[in-house]
Amino acid sequence: MAHVLPDLPYAYDALEPFISKQIMELHHKKHHQTYVNSLNAAEQAYAKASTPKERIALQAALKFNGGGHINHSLFWTNLAPSASEGKGNGGVLRDGPLKEAITKTWGSVDNFKNEFNTTTAAIQGSGWGWLGYNPQTKVLEITTTANQDPLLSHVPIIGVDIWEHAFYLQYLNVKADYLKAIWNVINWDEAEKRFADAQSGAKL
Ligand SMILES: [Fe+2]
Repeated sequence: MAHVLPDLPYAYDALEPFISKQIMELHHKKHHQTYVNSLNAAEQAYAKASTPKERIALQAALKFNGGGHINHSLFWTNLAPSASEGKGNGGVLRDGPLKEAITKTWGSVDNFKNEFNTTTAAIQGSGWGWLGYNPQTKVLEITTTANQDPLLSHVPIIGVDIWEHAFYLQYLNVKADYLKAIWNVINWDEAEKRFADAQSGAKL
């Protein structure tokens, strides 16, 4: 069964002014589509491979493009048009279990955002910053993955793409401004739902 590019749950310009229409169009239609196409090609080649050596040779392509598809599919639902622009629910963390857990761990939501941004900005090269639920310790943690590695150690609650293709056309080299702006379009309602599912043991 071939993988397909999921539709965005909002228009390409819906995250403006925080993420431009141009970035969203390229990011979704070109970058994500390429991960989907390359994952399908790698899976087809894997199905035809007849020796262990042939299958081993495909591992890197499966990991990179599979991770790219998984991470971007999550990223689009992690975002929402901003409430500060009167467009949607983006950026609004309502009172509830997630806010309580964040406040308990980091002291305040602002402290959490600062620590998340510092950790994510420190990624060398391309990667992802994560708020993840640790299923062993049952606490929320900030973590990162390199390249397109999906988050396997934790259940992802929020993932932020820190590849240059995610911000460069609008923020140039100023990663910190992109990371500051993105909190205006984080879909906390989706994060709350993922947090509840993670606590109930769902495989997300
Ligand atoms: Fe990306």
